[in-house]
Amino acid sequence: ARRALIVVAAGSGERLGRGMPKARVHLAGRPILAHVFDRLGELTVPFDAVILVLPRDDASFAELDALGRGFSADTGVPVHSTPGGDSRSGSVRAGLDELERAVAHADWSPAATTVLIHDAARALTPQEVYAQVISAVESGAPAVVPARPVTDTIKRVHPDAPQHAQTERVVETVPRAALRAVQTPQGFTWELLQRAFEHTRGMAEDDAEALTDEAMIAEDMGVEVSIVAGSDLAVKITTPSDLISAEAHLAHASP
Ligand code: C5P
Repeated sequence: ARRALIVVAAGSGERLGRGMPKARVHLAGRPILAHVFDRLGELTVPFDAVILVLPRDDASFAELDALGRGFSADTGVPVHSTPGGDSRSGSVRAGLDELERAVAHADWSPAATTVLIHDAARALTPQEVYAQVISAVESGAPAVVPARPVTDTIKRVHPDAPQHAQTERVVETVPRAALRAVQTPQGFTWELLQRAFEHTRGMAEDDAEALTDEAMIAEDMGVEVSIVAGSDLAVKITTPSDLISAEAHLAHASP
């Protein structure tokens, strides 16, 4: 059995407002992507290959690729960098293509290969979450996502029928006990990801774009998706306030 990790780190980071791709933005003095490698260095279940999907601009690509090379030098795990696409799913696609190229000579069996897809923006995801996702896929679950119970009360709103100016009309309150908020890394057999790619290729562009992650594609294909426990630390760093919470956590964890 083989294991590969695809880290998608090609996002613009616009909502962080630092004028650079998110993976380069500093968290506690180092780029966000460097923290992803810190967590990977703690993993007891190693990967056979890491694919980094990076921003296309040369300076960002070079800086982030160097972090990958450093990790590879420290751990012996091969790291391959490739430029990303315009959307997260385009970047995942680029990562899968790079994986195909990277192991072409090695004859990996798609049915016996576990692929984890991880958002670089979830930089502080603890190694237990990676380990549980890997273990569930290797025990036979074809699609596995980490998730947390929802703590907010969630309401569904009508898309276009406000009763009062500047308001939205509530249609219903969704029972919270049955809801989960999904995180990454998401784990799949490589074979399923290859079939997922074929599945979306046959779809209208709008329908394909509505499937925002690979677990949603699996659901659309009728494949069972399983959930393992996520972590509060696996939140996606999206806004400046997320960055502050992540820094507070790091300061607390290593005084
Ligand atoms: O933008 P969003 O929050 O959905 O991004 C989630 C993850 O996908 C981030 O780690 C981001 O770097 C990545 N991404 C990407 N290529 C894009 C857009 C997002 O790799 N074009």
